[in-house]
Amino acid sequence: MCGIIGVTGVAEPLAVLLAGLRALEYRGYDSAGVALVETGGSELWRLRAAERGRSIDKLASEVVAAPLDVGAAIGHTRWATHGAPTEENAHPHLDCSGRVAVVHNGIIENHRELAAQLAAAGHRFSSATDTEVVAHLVEEERGAGAPLAEALRRCLPRLRGDFALALVDAGSPETIVAARRTAPLVVGRSDTGAVVASDIAAALATTRNLFLLDEDQVAELTPGAIRLIDAAGAECSPRPLAVSWDVAAAQKDGHPDFMAKEMAEQPLALRETLLGRLEASGATELEELGLDGPVLKAFRRVVLVACGSSYHACLSGRNALESLAGVAAEVDIASEFRYRDAVLGPDTLVVAVSQSGETLDTLHAQREAKRRGATTLALSNVVDSVMAREADAVLYTRAGPEIGVASTKCHLAQRAMLGVLALHVARARGALSDDATRRHAADLLGLPDAVSDVLARAEDHAAVAARHAAVRDVYFLGRRDGFSVAAEGALKLKELAYVRAEAYPAAEMKHGPISLIEPGALVVAVATRSGLWEKVMANIAEMRARGATVVAVATDGDAETAAVADDVLLVPETGPLAAPIVEIVPLQRFAYEIARARGNDVDRPRNLAKVVTVE
Ligand code: F6R
Repeated sequence: MCGIIGVTGVAEPLAVLLAGLRALEYRGYDSAGVALVETGGSELWRLRAAERGRSIDKLASEVVAAPLDVGAAIGHTRWATHGAPTEENAHPHLDCSGRVAVVHNGIIENHRELAAQLAAAGHRFSSATDTEVVAHLVEEERGAGAPLAEALRRCLPRLRGDFALALVDAGSPETIVAARRTAPLVVGRSDTGAVVASDIAAALATTRNLFLLDEDQVAELTPGAIRLIDAAGAECSPRPLAVSWDVAAAQKDGHPDFMAKEMAEQPLALRETLLGRLEASGATELEELGLDGPVLKAFRRVVLVACGSSYHACLSGRNALESLAGVAAEVDIASEFRYRDAVLGPDTLVVAVSQSGETLDTLHAQREAKRRGATTLALSNVVDSVMAREADAVLYTRAGPEIGVASTKCHLAQRAMLGVLALHVARARGALSDDATRRHAADLLGLPDAVSDVLARAEDHAAVAARHAAVRDVYFLGRRDGFSVAAEGALKLKELAYVRAEAYPAAEMKHGPISLIEPGALVVAVATRSGLWEKVMANIAEMRARGATVVAVATDGDAETAAVADDVLLVPETGPLAAPIVEIVPLQRFAYEIARARGNDVDRPRNLAKVVTVE
């Protein structure tokens, strides 16, 4: 999971490349590198740096040595998979002659086998990456006389795995060739230039005239032109990509970091996601879904699959589908679902929830569901993401680009979208009274204001976090939807603050984990009035009796909860669909403040990448 950018025919190609790499850094920041082809001299020039999080700055300070007259240029920001995060393993990688350079996102699964064959044929390898085999394979084809695009096309059938690739060759100074399988890649052209990038945000500085690449197609980019060939070598036309985001949407807007900006954008993300899809009467408008009422009514089971935060959104989504629509629903971690021989059929709707729409575990779970005969629905924030394109039906959250590695606004938008979906299915099945439908609609439509209200309490919530900044072990407890909130709160604290945090359904503590509770342990309990409040209060008492310190997420004005807690994170009262969404916000702040107090980079937590395109 790395970021790729390439440009040709643009003014100041290095500046464009570096800006593109900064936009792509969320995909990995172990190292970065560029390769440029000199127009006149036909030389290839490469610069790489492996200074975690500072590599692009290092490149920027050293590019003064770059040739002045640059034709095609490619760049890469890396999240290490095969090979340590060193400069030798940083992309671009070269062939033996140093004339072909390649950047890659994904994994070439059969790289060992290929490397052995290439080594036997005399190729010398200078990195421990899976990527380098591509440079040598292309070198072979170039040696046999194939033009660059054709050389790459011939190599693709030999590669197993998921990848996006971009290559330059000193022999074709103004050409970039690119291809993808599963991993994302867009191409674009302006009047005089062309661009290839892992995501839209990085390509936008060059042009809005963007196109999609289908799997195993090869794109040849030259100044002002894109030529596409399919796997058989036949010319084909690129599919245009509608772009609604602008470059500014991917900047920090004066916030100290992307996470702060994205938390502040949550009301907007919710408003946009709900817009035109839900009315106060409870009427839902999801024509885009393409599954009509009778189809929705016919499903006997819904299975939600996802990873990480998206999985937590699904926990509440399942509850909403069961309680509102009366349809059997279950949820599974995508990577487990994929290998558990799930019994599926045409009576099952499998909803794959993924912000990026390219998380490999979720993508493969979706493919497996399809293979087993289920109808698949992708819920993604990225328009035309791989999952969106492959699913039978698609719903988009409209949260805008999320750059911070920890999901915030997209997570809230996913939960809201699942709430609307539950209402929509409930209506199709005639499962709810008009009154109840209206109540749930009002609950969801009130979300942007309720979340704004919680965000306005940032100082109070930050003060609670400050009192616990030195914490070492935390137990997040909740029940029903409150458990999904607890799970998300624990994940945020773990990934951002590097604090051991476990989430349990509150009643489950007494079946084992309660042994861990001793004076000094911190328990964060989701104890709002919206859920199983009395039960949670009893569970809190059990923790307190063993000496735990308790922080409670509690409803405004709830003196009883405040009396048993050492600290409260107050939220306004809402209905059941909105409650988990509102309750997560103070827990995001809790993790954010503790992470910052410890000097952690909240946008780029260690060992993580925004998009996980490995299994
Ligand atoms: C945590 C986080 C991750 C993602 C997970 C799935 O803050 O962001 O746990 O939720 O990697 O990603 P998507 O939703 O893109 O499939």
